[in-house]
Amino acid sequence: IRDKSFTSILMQWDKNENHRKMPWKGEKDPYKVWVSEIILQQTRVEQGWMYYERFLIQFPDLISLAKAKDDDVFKLWEGLGYYSRCKNLIHTARYIYDNYEGKFPENYEDILSLKGIGPYTAAAIVSFCFNKPYAVLDGNVFRVLSRISGNSIPIDSAEGKIWYTKLADKLLDKILPGKYNQAIMDFGATICKPMLPLCAACPANNICVAYDKTMVNILPVKEKV
Ligand code: ADE
Repeated sequence: IRDKSFTSILMQWDKNENHRKMPWKGEKDPYKVWVSEIILQQTRVEQGWMYYERFLIQFPDLISLAKAKDDDVFKLWEGLGYYSRCKNLIHTARYIYDNYEGKFPENYEDILSLKGIGPYTAAAIVSFCFNKPYAVLDGNVFRVLSRISGNSIPIDSAEGKIWYTKLADKLLDKILPGKYNQAIMDFGATICKPMLPLCAACPANNICVAYDKTMVNILPVKEKV
């Protein structure tokens, strides 16, 4: 693919046609973005939405979470499952309170070293909140990149991860990385969907290799079933 054209098509689509609204979208407070991304790790947007809002009403900032009783946080988490996420939230809030004077770190490596935060969440936080040029790679992004490039290397293979990381970094809008990262997730969720993607209406169908080769429904390829 002609890389830069995908980036500008996506940014144009985001500006003019992306009407997806979610409570954490455009949020710049790293505490709130962190909470939203942890909730969304294993929870669908529709379900996570209400939990996110309730969580922030009860714990509006990092200090309030750091000082909360464990059981009060667990109670809010009921129904979401994967309680290690909740334990890590409490642990990391207290860690930031104790080691960073309650101020969320802004450096990618510092954030990545926090318990419960991996490369995806660290990239989301630094790009959304501090506009730093780190590309997010989640299921949505793998799918979009695989189809646009027409690449059938399994996305869960070691080789695939390296290849897609390189492509993601290359395509990232370096001026507006936060906007780009949210836009590619929204694009994957509303246009380049797993099932019945809206190819006829897709603004990138003229540069999409999978569309050109009628490979859309077989991409992305996974090694494990
Ligand atoms: N899934 C994970 N993070 C997301 C975000 N910021 N917006 C939409 N879906 C997401």
